[in-house]
Amino acid sequence: MTHYNQLLQQEIRKYREKTRKSRNLNNLARSLLPGGDTRTVTYFKPYPLYVREGSGYLVCDVDGNKYIDFLNNYTSLVHGHRHPKIVEAINNQLTHLQAVHAPTEKQIELAKLICERFPSVEMVRFMNSGTEATMNAIRLARAYTGKKKIMKAEGGYHGTHDFAMISVHPPSEKYGSLNNPESVPEDKGIPKAVLKNVIVFPFNNFEVTEKLIKRNKEELAALIVEPIMGTAGIIPPVKDYLKFLREITIDNDVLLVFDEVITARLSKGGAQEYFKVEPDLTASGKMFGGGTPIGLVGGKEEIMQLYSPERKEFLSQSGTFNANPVTMAAGVATLKLLTTQAIKKINSLGGFLKKRISNLFSEFSVQIKVTGVGSLLNIHFTNKEVLDYRSSLTADKDLHFLLYLSLLNRGIWIAPRLMANISTPMSNRETEKFLKTLGEVLVSIKPAIEEKAPHLINKEM
Ligand SMILES: Cc1ncc(COP(=O)(O)O)c(C=O)c1O
Repeated sequence: MTHYNQLLQQEIRKYREKTRKSRNLNNLARSLLPGGDTRTVTYFKPYPLYVREGSGYLVCDVDGNKYIDFLNNYTSLVHGHRHPKIVEAINNQLTHLQAVHAPTEKQIELAKLICERFPSVEMVRFMNSGTEATMNAIRLARAYTGKKKIMKAEGGYHGTHDFAMISVHPPSEKYGSLNNPESVPEDKGIPKAVLKNVIVFPFNNFEVTEKLIKRNKEELAALIVEPIMGTAGIIPPVKDYLKFLREITIDNDVLLVFDEVITARLSKGGAQEYFKVEPDLTASGKMFGGGTPIGLVGGKEEIMQLYSPERKEFLSQSGTFNANPVTMAAGVATLKLLTTQAIKKINSLGGFLKKRISNLFSEFSVQIKVTGVGSLLNIHFTNKEVLDYRSSLTADKDLHFLLYLSLLNRGIWIAPRLMANISTPMSNRETEKFLKTLGEVLVSIKPAIEEKAPHLINKEM
């Protein structure tokens, strides 16, 4: 047996021993829910953990194992679990009103906070997920421009509607040339008709992006982009790339849509404030719900007014739970807690952790890349610069999983794709614990790295 397989089997055995109740629940769940859950991203082999409790930066599984949560429901819990002020706001709201077929004051309060914070957002509409947010932003862009195509980045993730599920994880044998990437459907459920209306561009590539915009401009309603590519591996934009996207979209009459579902946490005004680039529309969600479901679209008044039912022709955007008062209350409490000071703290902890992870791997003579900005980071088992989806594929995904499971078994929970993020209840005690555990794991898995990825071993050190 190879070192890798031996170590993986060892970690899987350890995991099974520690998580018997999770295994039993998963066995039960498999007969009721396909694969035992309703969320593809939470699945991993041999079975996912079932979690019972969360508090601050800690979660506790059904077997009583505790983990420091560096995943935070994929970045949505910027204040960790059950922050007392958010719980209080939800409880207060529940003593008055749960859900209703009418607008509420809380909606105005959250809208005001968002419009005050986000430079480009003059008006906002609420929905229930990031998926709905990007779907609505794209539809709004079509209605406003009268054009039908959109452009999205290869590897960009914007949720699960048809137009978003193109070239999210395209296999190398299908993704075509870098000069003209193919539009590859994520699965067999995506209609072919969608493909010709979604143009795929390589993130951080000025030349090809420009060529594709110019070629399609007559039919192009919007270019939608994550200011930092999240799912592809927390890949930041290279210098001036977002500024370039802003200028080229203006020059070609194309709307620029920022998907700030993950990046809204970067500063009070999200990535658009952080990078000083204002899109026409912003789609977001996650953290704004304070742990409850939310999506939102915001932007310039002139575009957003298309939703007004007071117009003769308007865009319909309904949802039974849109702007539900519980979410609105949790969102208001979340933003009030997310002060400049709080953001500074998580960003500096994130920056510190990123640097120390790099140093730690160097001490073990292993070359890796750590990408990220502020409180968001991602480890990649590659020595190539990670600038776009294709370069992120150079990383050894088997090693990613081994590191993930080894950390999990020792009480550190990050994403299987090795994304981690900081929540406001954390301090350097938690980041030190992360680094200490990572050091122990590296001692254990070094033989697997040497065997599977010898090119990453720095022989001169
Ligand atoms: C950048 C981005 N956009 C959209 C979405 C979809 O959001 P939701 O899962 O709330 O539908 C996600 C979710 O991870 C995301 O990361």
